[in-house]
Amino acid sequence: MSRLANLHLRTKFNLIMSLLLISLLIAAAYLSYRKQQALVLKFAADNARNFARQIIETRDYMSGVVGDEAERNYDLVPQVVASRVAKRITSGTPYYVRQVSLRYRNPENSPDGYEASRLKEFNQLGAKESSSLETIGGRLTFRYMQPMVAVESCLACHGEYDSAPAFVRARFPRGHYSYGYRSGEVIGAVSVSIPMAELYRQIGTNLRQDLLYRVGIFLIIIMVMGWILRRSIIGPVKELAESITRVTRTGSFHERLLPRGNDEIGTLIKSFNEMMVELEQRNLQSSEADARYRSLMEMAGSAVVTCLQDGRIIIANQRAADLFGLPRKSVLGRNIFEFISGEGSGKELFAASMVDGKLRPDVESTMGTVRGFRGRTTRVELSIALSESEQQLLFTVILREHPRG
Ligand code: HEC
Repeated sequence: MSRLANLHLRTKFNLIMSLLLISLLIAAAYLSYRKQQALVLKFAADNARNFARQIIETRDYMSGVVGDEAERNYDLVPQVVASRVAKRITSGTPYYVRQVSLRYRNPENSPDGYEASRLKEFNQLGAKESSSLETIGGRLTFRYMQPMVAVESCLACHGEYDSAPAFVRARFPRGHYSYGYRSGEVIGAVSVSIPMAELYRQIGTNLRQDLLYRVGIFLIIIMVMGWILRRSIIGPVKELAESITRVTRTGSFHERLLPRGNDEIGTLIKSFNEMMVELEQRNLQSSEADARYRSLMEMAGSAVVTCLQDGRIIIANQRAADLFGLPRKSVLGRNIFEFISGEGSGKELFAASMVDGKLRPDVESTMGTVRGFRGRTTRVELSIALSESEQQLLFTVILREHPRG
């Protein structure tokens, strides 16, 4: 989790969006695959039904019009015509069509196991069609069957042996099981099969196209959202962070950011600008007070220094510098006890205690000797005042040269 927290906002966004995208794509691909599959199966069933109808109609028509002609031309037998027409219609398609019967005349029309069991069902249950996915020879195949029912005209050749045309009787002797049909009886079925590999190839193509579109759309969404995120959040926040870093580094409160809108980021920037104005004002006030204090110190007739509790000098006037025999710059940061000896040399000078609920220096004035940097000694009276600034105790010491020093 902490590793995620350390990532850039943009990386995080891209990561999350990519994960979302991939899972959405997988879900969408799965759903669309299912949909395509159902669609392709329906399409296959519709086509198979149409083929079957055309073949049955052809046969019915031929059976109605053919007479002695078939005697001289076997190619006019309804079954033969229907088979040829079927072959022509399905040539160039993955559809494979047969016309089968349990009591076949031509062994080529003998049903396979699947067809035989369906034919029995048509006989017993009177279903109008059947379709299913079957594995045949290890390959998934879509199978469709529609029964053919004997009508009056069929009985000329499929009814009683005695009334059948001579060419039929010659080929199929008395007692052959292809005789004896009655009107309304199922005589056979049109059987259509399609290897699923063919259909799935189609699904695959559709799916790839679909996926490509989706990926395109998702990429555009990610890019647009990334752009919005960058423009409206990441950019301004980064700018703000850089501004704050600059302020910290330079200590200058002149920084202002371009105001933008009234949304959360706009409010943040407005607050930052207000804070800068406020800080700049306070800074100005305090440096003004500072300047006033310094000029006051300079005006004082004596040496004045301000020290921290450990004696480190943070402010000194010119007279103090003269007294210590150093340029004023060098005085700052030195310890006042480097210069003072005598009663006033102890650190207890800068001790403080509570008096009437207020902090007071323990020693308010004492005598001491200042040994300047060049060895000059001066007898001084030290007056000490205590002030508090930002949780630090500050001791302002006035070193008044003793007239008798
Ligand atoms: C003119 C005679 C004739 C008529 C009319 C006729 N058939 Fe046939 N039928 C045949 C012959 C002959 C065959 C065998 C064809 C072959 O050798 O492939 C056959 C074959 C079939 C077959 C294929 C199974 C098999 O036995 O090999 C079916 C199914 C069939 N006929 C159904 C019908 C139906 C349904 C009708 C009426 C719509 C009909 N036939 C009308 C003569 C006829």
